[in-house]
Amino acid sequence: MDVFEAIKERYSYRGSFKNITVPVDHLEKIVQAGLDAPSGGNRQTTQFVIINDPGVIAEVKSAFGDHPYITTAPAFIAAIVDSEPKPYREGGFIFVLEDCSAAIENILLSITDLGYASVWLDGVLRMDGRAAKIGEAIGLPASKKVQILLPVGVPQETLPRREKLPFKERAWFNRYGQ
Ligand SMILES: Cc1cc2nc3c(=O)[nH]c(=O)nc-3n(C[C@H](O)[C@H](O)[C@H](O)COP(=O)(O)O)c2cc1C
Repeated sequence: MDVFEAIKERYSYRGSFKNITVPVDHLEKIVQAGLDAPSGGNRQTTQFVIINDPGVIAEVKSAFGDHPYITTAPAFIAAIVDSEPKPYREGGFIFVLEDCSAAIENILLSITDLGYASVWLDGVLRMDGRAAKIGEAIGLPASKKVQILLPVGVPQETLPRREKLPFKERAWFNRYGQ
């Protein structure tokens, strides 16, 4: 699959996963794609915890309700950032979320390329203390937090994709809106 195919193929999968283990070498390859992403000043601020131990998986799942993409997930990838990131340079730049997002998109495309599916879980982590519960399950120090969680597995089905607005409604050459 070339990169453009992976981009078109990727979508947020919220269905059930097949009862198939994701091999460790695939999980490593997927996360390596995240480590290879660009980051502000090459500070590489995002870290990852790959969750494939049944006990830890069970703890992660207990933080959520009864969603198929959670209950059937054979593995998760947690993206970790500093709880209180320090500014970069005099200007006080903080690029932690941008760095993390770049890494996650690389990871999602790699997941797609290897025939797996996922969904970017971020908003739901900010509710009901879920990020903290998952942080506890994976032994995070207080200085770190889970920013994004990705279930990873072989999708049971193909679900409808979200429509994207046409090119002409969101992108232009040279002059905005023309
Ligand atoms: C910053 C961000 C936060 C997101 N948080 C969640 C979330 O908490 N739960 C969820 O089901 N999807 C979440 N998503 C996935 C979006 O809902 C999804 O990307 C969007 O609806 C477009 O669909 P697509 O990914 O299939 O193209 C998030 C995506 C982004 C980029």
